[in-house]
Amino acid sequence: MSAEAAGKILEMLRGDNIHLSGTEISKALGISRSAIWKHIQSLRRAGYQIEAKPARGYRLIAVPAHPTQWEIQAGLGTERFGKDIYVFPEVNSTNVVAFRLALRGAQEGAVVLAESQTRGKGRVGRRWESPAGSNIYLSIILRPKIPPTKIPLITLMAAVACAEAIEETAGFIPTIKWPNDLLVGEKKLGGILTEADMEMDVINFVVVGLGVNCNMTRASFPPSIQDTATSLQEALGEKISRLLLIQAILRNMEQWYTILVQGQGGEIRRRWKELSQIEGKEVAVSFMGAVVKGTALDIDDDGVLLVQEGGGELKRVVAGDVHVRR
Ligand code: BTN
Repeated sequence: MSAEAAGKILEMLRGDNIHLSGTEISKALGISRSAIWKHIQSLRRAGYQIEAKPARGYRLIAVPAHPTQWEIQAGLGTERFGKDIYVFPEVNSTNVVAFRLALRGAQEGAVVLAESQTRGKGRVGRRWESPAGSNIYLSIILRPKIPPTKIPLITLMAAVACAEAIEETAGFIPTIKWPNDLLVGEKKLGGILTEADMEMDVINFVVVGLGVNCNMTRASFPPSIQDTATSLQEALGEKISRLLLIQAILRNMEQWYTILVQGQGGEIRRRWKELSQIEGKEVAVSFMGAVVKGTALDIDDDGVLLVQEGGGELKRVVAGDVHVRR
């Protein structure tokens, strides 16, 4: 079905006690009454409760508890991000689905969301726990016209946007740990996995995947991560609206992404440094068996971490896991 037409029908039915006949909707949208009926059936399958009475017409009674593309798009207010949203009950990984859609030509700003993932991907081949119905698993397709060396900046941009979206929705701002962890205290609240399709010096597209633990209690995490993972519910003592957080993420991402593609990466670095407080800290960064130890000095223009080793040598760290020593 045309998701757009279904969205328009929903918009007409929103509001208190609104009844509309098939004929009224059909006239307003310029489609047949039988097409309207098909859209109503599809919306019902997606979880909308819509009453249909012969004399009074259609009435929207309840919207689904999980975020649907239409709830997210209602009042979203972005220009490009979230114009196309694909929501699935379950996928292997939203990044894999988004990658496939991007290869088939999906436009910039298209979003893939799932209620659960069977093979949620973390960084460096790790698994991202993705149980159903409580968290956000979101991937967005970007087509930036920037050199591939700037890709790390996209991860920093996404971390800043996501942290600010959490502040808007939950009332506190998480810290960022280089390059992509969102933390509450020492515990991990969310993470970002950036994957790109590129040639030697051209980016074809980038998929930015965000995982945010929302309405999980400590006991609902697998025992292996109970001491290292947390959720917004754990931090706040109450559940948060995933719908409002998804909308805030898309709005903030669009704003920060615009800043990035306009060549103002310095703005992203400045905000990232404020939120990470990594400057001047003693760190150990491990990657593929090697460890770089020293003082975190800065993030360079490309989003690369600069670490000064004990002997004074400056190392550029493109990827790895940071351990803050003090
Ligand atoms: C990490 O911190 O290791 C990155 C975690 C990224 C998880 C998200 S969930 C949505 C998207 N789909 C995936 O398979 N992974 C990312």
